[in-house]
Amino acid sequence: MTQATTPLREEDLPILDVSGADFQRDPHPTIAQVRASGRFAFSRRGVEVLAHDDVITLLRDDRLVTQTHSTYESYGAGEMLRAFAHDGLLSAMQGERHDRIRRVFLAAFRARLIEDERGRMRAVASRLTDQMLAAGLPLDLVEGFTSPYPMEVLCHLLGIPAADIPEFTAAATQLHLLAQVPLAPGFPKIDAALRTLWDYCAELVAERRRRPQEDAISALIQVQATAGRITDSELVWNIANLIFAGQDTTRYQLASSVRAILEVPGLWDRMAGEPDLVRQVAEETFRWYPVVNFVVRIPREDVVYGGVEMRAGRRVILNFQAASRDPERFDEPFVFTPRPVGRNDRSFDAPFGLGMHYCLGAALARAEIQEALGVLTSRLTGLAVDGELEMTAAAGMLHGPEAMPVTFRAR
Ligand code: HEM
Repeated sequence: MTQATTPLREEDLPILDVSGADFQRDPHPTIAQVRASGRFAFSRRGVEVLAHDDVITLLRDDRLVTQTHSTYESYGAGEMLRAFAHDGLLSAMQGERHDRIRRVFLAAFRARLIEDERGRMRAVASRLTDQMLAAGLPLDLVEGFTSPYPMEVLCHLLGIPAADIPEFTAAATQLHLLAQVPLAPGFPKIDAALRTLWDYCAELVAERRRRPQEDAISALIQVQATAGRITDSELVWNIANLIFAGQDTTRYQLASSVRAILEVPGLWDRMAGEPDLVRQVAEETFRWYPVVNFVVRIPREDVVYGGVEMRAGRRVILNFQAASRDPERFDEPFVFTPRPVGRNDRSFDAPFGLGMHYCLGAALARAEIQEALGVLTSRLTGLAVDGELEMTAAAGMLHGPEAMPVTFRAR
């Protein structure tokens, strides 16, 4: 008779130390060492799922849910964060409410609309490149390009006037605090930033209601008026959520993508004027340096998966950083190897998540990064990092360069 094996508990798992200086410098040796003892680990963030295939499976497992507004409340979140998490933070919603609001907002991100924006993306990228060429060197690529670029593209898509951007950029950037673990120390700043965003978005919606235009926000108001599918608060907070969700992610990913390209001698120059190669490289950079280090899931009930006990209410970390370099999934995971898109056995399957919370802005972000890399490689040569990269905490949910001093010249 076979004896049932007792599932491993949190305390039985190998420890993944995500707080040490080594991890901050380069997390991969620490991850590789822990991976040698199994597919799961435990860290101060929760039970860590390291293997690619487990991450993919668990993203689709509905026994595990995202952190909800009640999770934020239980951490002691302020009034604005509680309202935002309840009405705007799509990734924190479940079931009917999530699907109802998501359906309305999907309309603003249809593939055709994104394709129509590509020319605009190139125009914004070219103007920012002109400004970079006119500035003194070294120049911070994040401040000069990867930060203003996604904000301007997204605002154009939504119908937010470019002149208004300075009013809420600092607040949108401040919301990177939402990706930190632990979260509580950031609450006062998060609430102040959310108030700024709420005030701006509420006024914008009121203005478009008075004078509708040909833009996504007027279209969303129209859907709301005819179908009544979302409340005023859900409408305003979800516009704020897009500004938040579309800014930091793309800003860090684009800077990380440039960083990855510069690590491969000669690749930058080979990409100039080669759109197919640009797409292949962009995709491999999502595997190499995924901006979303991990997503958090909370088991609704006690779950045993892969011989590990995942207790109801405790955090499970689906670790994209580990999954994207999993030797069981990728041959030579530590070699940067772009392959043709579509026949790409190298691509990491979930840089934008999977299942019901699949990134609403995935097509937009991919197009933004492809067009930006196309313009930058075609217009600049000799690009090199010149100084210290300032990185976000390696253990945070979003990871990438905060500052990246570079030198370059016109091609
Ligand atoms: C490189 C850039 C980006 C990356 C890597 C990224 C990644 C992700 C990931 C992994 C998720 C799933 C989270 C989870 O399962 O817990 C997600 C969700 C989401 N993303 Fe993105 N994202 C990016 C850019 C954007 C942009 C540009 C927008 C919109 C303007 C956006 C809006 C959203 C929204 C609204 C959700 C929640 C969807 C839902 O719960 O239904 N993201 N993103």
